Amino acid sequence: MAKQRQWALTTKRSSYVISMLDGDQGLVLDHWGASLPYDVVTRWDEPDRSVQYRFFEDAAPMEYASMGARQTAFSELVVDRGSGSVGASWTWVPAGTDGATLIEAEDVTTLRFDFTDETATLEMRQYLEVSTHHDVIRRWVSVSNHGAEPVTLDRVFSAGWSPPIHGTVRVHYLAGAWSQEFQPQDLVLSSGTFMMGSRAGVTGLSFSPTVCVEPADSAAAGGAYGVSLEWSGSWRLQVEKDLVDDRLRVSCGIDDDATRITLLTGETFTSPTSSGVWSEDGSDGVSRSWHEYQRCRRAASLDPRRHPIVYNSWFATGFGVDLEGQLALARRAARVGAEAFVVDDGWFSGRNDDTGGLGDWEPDPTAFPAGLAPLACAVRDLGMCFGVWVEPEAVSPDSRLFRDHPDWIYQAAHRPPRTLRHQYVLDLGRAEAAEWVDHMLHRLLTSADIGYLKWDMNRPISDGGRPGDLHGREWSVQHTRNYYRILRMLRADFPDVIVEGCAAGGGRIDNAVLSLVDNVWPSDETGPRDRLAIQHGFLSAYPPHAMSSWVTDEPGMRQRCAVSVEFRFAVAMCGVLGIGADLSGWADAQLARARHLVDLYRSIRPTVFGGAVFRHGTPGDTTYAVEFADTGDGCCIFVFDRDSDRVTDRPRVRVRPRSLRADLRYRVHGGDIVVSGAEAGSVGVPVPFALARDVDVMIFDPVT
Ligand code: DGJ
Repeated sequence: MAKQRQWALTTKRSSYVISMLDGDQGLVLDHWGASLPYDVVTRWDEPDRSVQYRFFEDAAPMEYASMGARQTAFSELVVDRGSGSVGASWTWVPAGTDGATLIEAEDVTTLRFDFTDETATLEMRQYLEVSTHHDVIRRWVSVSNHGAEPVTLDRVFSAGWSPPIHGTVRVHYLAGAWSQEFQPQDLVLSSGTFMMGSRAGVTGLSFSPTVCVEPADSAAAGGAYGVSLEWSGSWRLQVEKDLVDDRLRVSCGIDDDATRITLLTGETFTSPTSSGVWSEDGSDGVSRSWHEYQRCRRAASLDPRRHPIVYNSWFATGFGVDLEGQLALARRAARVGAEAFVVDDGWFSGRNDDTGGLGDWEPDPTAFPAGLAPLACAVRDLGMCFGVWVEPEAVSPDSRLFRDHPDWIYQAAHRPPRTLRHQYVLDLGRAEAAEWVDHMLHRLLTSADIGYLKWDMNRPISDGGRPGDLHGREWSVQHTRNYYRILRMLRADFPDVIVEGCAAGGGRIDNAVLSLVDNVWPSDETGPRDRLAIQHGFLSAYPPHAMSSWVTDEPGMRQRCAVSVEFRFAVAMCGVLGIGADLSGWADAQLARARHLVDLYRSIRPTVFGGAVFRHGTPGDTTYAVEFADTGDGCCIFVFDRDSDRVTDRPRVRVRPRSLRADLRYRVHGGDIVVSGAEAGSVGVPVPFALARDVDVMIFDPVT
């Protein structure tokens, strides 16, 4: 392989082949797609036609382009030495036996390529990593300054991807806003650039750092490609299609609008990881490939104990939290089968509404005269794990923290600090502030028997940076890295504590967070139909085993039509079921019904967490279904229907499971019939609506 200057990476079901350009100025992509039975593939070459008025490098599918090496096309790296011109060109410095350094650990293989710039003062390393357990290729770069002068990186993206799709492409992405997160969007791109990102210092509510591209012509072969950025700070991702060269490029990395990286002598910057995946089963297959990957990462454990059925107090009590009230709710939560009881916002001093208290993480002495320990004990005695909400990056103007450390909040010099939701943002990028959060969490988690922590973050960051810090324009990077560092501390020092990530709903959800926390809270919208739409988008890129979802009494902000309580439960059962309803108002019969539904969920939870997901239609359709295939050849299907006034002469609703084996027969629980997998998949199975008039959960078990 080395002689060919070509390297083939093999994932579970795909191959990714790259080679070094003659002249050693960079790597190009030769193949990304189906597994190849041979090692060496035809190398990329210029299109077989005369294309004038552009440089060779501008058309080449370079793995990572640098302004200066690439001439006029978009580049992932822009180096500024302060000399009045920008850019750098690079030469490969072969290492290892193959020209690349090979790092092998269990089932993970990493390749590293080293380059030096034309002044021999900068070093760039490109990394590619694959595993035999999934189809995702992980890529990142590092840049080091060995020169005597500081260097600025105006842009230092993580990777450029060149999915080999010809002609017009369809771009699928997720856009949103508070309470409307993860709305699936798509556009057809024949020429030009589509760009999305966040300048909010967090992943953001507006876009999710993940995209899927496939041929716009649905009859075209070749499958679909997903690209994501594993990063929870400000970011950018762009899809560029060039008409003349028929070139498609997806580039992503940390934000290059407000962020600048400074490399002083001896310093190295390592980018976040960008991951890419190919699936021959189109965009739906890409979703399943992401789930497979996410199951292999941190939230690696699918053990229900890491993803318990939570009762959360927020919708029931808001800021009105005290020992007696929470205890009364906890007793009811235990009756319906909750496995964890989490006290949300409002438990600490000065938090009577959203104007105060943030930063002073001591239990309110009036509401909890003996601290949190008595409630934690009582909750444990009821058989549940006890949890609390925190927002460590938030600072109320009226807090002791702010009075003691007014300089620890983000504030641009000469401009008055801005509040949003009456709060400032703690400058977590500052070492002493990060250390303070670390200590605060240690103190809190050892103050009572706390087994669950919900980490919230309720505003975008503005005015980042700090006077005098040469790295001040990296504040979003510093902030994010310290956030990760503290999450890792939680894993190490409190391995049994379950962590839920939240940011005013789904404002900080990405593949990096999913590798560090157990669950995420996708949205504050719990109205069942709106929620279903949010979850539909969420599941296109993120996994059910991390998707917190509560049953509440909320009507929904956009689609308010009434649904059954079974419908509400079924929506939440498509992920990590939780309950947020005010159970104090539920009658005994309602509590008993809830208990029955919780038990049903427990019986199918392993399938929901571990199964391949097939979404049937969209939540706006008259009938919409979500299918979870289990590893034992069966499946369970949630069917949601809009006909809340079912009449017998209406044509019967059928579902066609997509994951069943044609050669097996299945017993359908709920309908109490036996069908062949072939018939079920083609003709379909009538939905009995045994659970309720507008929803059903059908379980298909193979008959032996
Ligand atoms: C926003 C979260 O998304 C909610 O679940 C809740 O925790 C509130 N913050 C509390 O302020």
